[in-house]
Amino acid sequence: MDTTLKISKIKDGTVIDHVPSGKGIRVLSILGIDENIENTVSVGMHVPSRKSDFKDVIKIENRFLDRNEIDMIALAAPNATISIIRNYEISEKFNVEFPEKLIGVVKCKNQNCITNTREPVKTEFDIVSKHPLIIRCSYCQRTMNEKDIFS
Ligand code: CTP
Ligand code: ZN
Repeated sequence: MDTTLKISKIKDGTVIDHVPSGKGIRVLSILGIDENIENTVSVGMHVPSRKSDFKDVIKIENRFLDRNEIDMIALAAPNATISIIRNYEISEKFNVEFPEKLIGVVKCKNQNCITNTREPVKTEFDIVSKHPLIIRCSYCQRTMNEKDIFS
């Protein structure tokens, strides 16, 4: 018996699997899934995983994530797998990978940073450390931790 299958399969959309238990909420927030929700979304939290621990799973119907969104998921769930489903079949499946640089996805916390003051300049951050998560702005060198990034 497959005890991991607590949510039905979907016809078209994106499945984000192997999210660390408890981080599903953060992934939802990264993806802007809130009270103005427009897609059918199924969320499994603290679902038993085959690896004898627990995970969160998110299934978004009729939405296909772009690269930036996937990079942001890496910040909260670096070991997540993303499956793109078309007509019930997995058309693409890939691991979330930590990007070397984060471009245009995180806002710098320094209000005086050029990315916050002048003509639109895309933000750019280097990953300083993955555990704990620390990133550094390429423009003003301000470092930010996980809490800063998601607040
Ligand atoms: N899935 C889905 N709807 C489909 C097909 C797959 O919701 N029509 C989900 C599965 O439930 C699973 C994920 O997509 O959560 C990946 O599917 P699959 O690769 O078949 O699952 P596993 O082999 O269990 O993957 P892994 O080895 O990554 O655990
Ligand atoms: Zn900055």
